[in-house]
Amino acid sequence: TKALVLNGPNLGRLGRRQPEIYGHTTHDELAELCRQWGAAAGLDVEVRQTNHEGELLDWLNAAADDGIPVVLNAAAWTHYSLALHDACAQLTAPLVEVHISEPKQRPEEFRHTSYVEQHAARTISGQGVDGYRLALEFIAAQAGQ
Ligand code: DQA
Repeated sequence: TKALVLNGPNLGRLGRRQPEIYGHTTHDELAELCRQWGAAAGLDVEVRQTNHEGELLDWLNAAADDGIPVVLNAAAWTHYSLALHDACAQLTAPLVEVHISEPKQRPEEFRHTSYVEQHAARTISGQGVDGYRLALEFIAAQAGQ
């Protein structure tokens, strides 16, 4: 089974970006871990990151057409993008929302809203990059792998 891991804005700087919040694993390292975790669970995982919202929308639209499960960390777009809400609403295979930190426990009010969660089969937050492993294992279990 194919699965996509889609990461939104600023996550390309993982490891260097506020490591006290997001940890020291780089995006390249995260991508490699996701491919390994996926392979161990029987999934063929492709990892992508973008700082351009329209690109993420195009990827989600293609995933809907192709019936591909998605692990999504939409980063800040999570908290305000109605276009992201609509793109997630039309997905046909399971969607798992991931956040490295726990947005609902953070002081900024804007992080307490998610436009993804209502469409997600599961939300995994506050587990660091290990949340991606849990998300991929969930998707593999759903796919009966
Ligand atoms: C994040 C949490 C968001 O609030 C933030 O905008 C991010 C990363 C996380 O993984 O913890 O960029 O999605």
